[in-house]
Amino acid sequence: MAESKAHKVTLIPGDGIGPEVTQAVVRILEATGVRFEWERFAAGAEAFEIFGEYIPAALYQSIERNGVALKGPVATPIGGGFKSINVTLRKRFDLFANFRPIKNLPGLETHWPGVDLIIVRENTEGEYLGLEHEVVPGVVEAIKVITEKGSTRIAKFAFEYARKHGRKKVHSIHKANIMKLSDGLFLRCARQVAEGFPDIFYGEHIIDNTCMQLVMNPYQYDTLLLENLYGDIVSDLCAGLVGGLGLVPGANLGVNCAIFEAVHGSAPDIAGKDIANPTALLQSAVLMLRHLNEEAAADRVHKALETVYAERKTLTRDVGGTAGTSQFADAVLKAMG
Ligand code: NAI
Repeated sequence: MAESKAHKVTLIPGDGIGPEVTQAVVRILEATGVRFEWERFAAGAEAFEIFGEYIPAALYQSIERNGVALKGPVATPIGGGFKSINVTLRKRFDLFANFRPIKNLPGLETHWPGVDLIIVRENTEGEYLGLEHEVVPGVVEAIKVITEKGSTRIAKFAFEYARKHGRKKVHSIHKANIMKLSDGLFLRCARQVAEGFPDIFYGEHIIDNTCMQLVMNPYQYDTLLLENLYGDIVSDLCAGLVGGLGLVPGANLGVNCAIFEAVHGSAPDIAGKDIANPTALLQSAVLMLRHLNEEAAADRVHKALETVYAERKTLTRDVGGTAGTSQFADAVLKAMG
């Protein structure tokens, strides 16, 4: 039988816990039998030290060529310094949909079992454009940009996903009582798109109330449609519902390109200790396998992951275990058989 062609994937290990979780995930992916050709790149502060650029030109070219990247977290300096590498890549490749499924894993006791939420976050607009300036000393303006095109395409993404996957409800989460024009436009676009999907319930909730509703009763929601900043914040809240940031995956999706990365950041507080949980990046890699039409391998990794959680013998500290990152990866490899 002819050997299947290798998938060329751009790999950005990132910094903080990035290299540790990436290494664990690459080991597992390579054990699936699917062939990968990794094009590995540094980004952020590390890349600047080596190449004098935060995002080397060769990294852009690699993503453009391959159309698929697996990315660890990259730290962004607070209150100054260089622009977020993550935001820059999303913008550069027009990865307008940030898709984050939130689901419990077996064997993990949480306040709410059986949570099954989809977060669809607009990924290229809003406050994330970073349009800030000092008007006079002591006064700073930040500009939030919401467009009809951007709002309509993310609403379409949410509804099309919901219909394709048999989901019943989409809620737009907003603050249009205060941001009357910007969030108002986002809602108008979502309502218009909703008219084309009469089979799916459409609701609207204000963001602050939504946070309370999510911690009181997450079952009332199904698919959440949010602007960029709201989606960022609500993602972490929802991660907390199912056991924390160590678990929740994500995909940045555009028309020609996709970057798969966990919801979490570089976790400097636990970096370099081999204690980070690689589950979130591994679940992002499962999304990548499905994107590459490697369904059997995706199912195999996901099943092994569920087995390790259900057995509860080799879990990392963030979810109540004592295992290290690499030990956890060993357990997943063993469960894959
Ligand atoms: P964080 O997500 O890195 O960490 C928040 C908390 O969750 C920490 O206590 C951390 O130890 C824990 N945590 C995160 N991932 C974990 C894992 N896999 N296993 C176990 N525990 C885990 O958020 P923080 O501290 O606010 O940000 C740190 C840096 O990461 C910042 O520079 C930020 O800009 C960057 N960041 C990068 C992202 C990306 O590359 N997409 C996303 C979010 C933040």
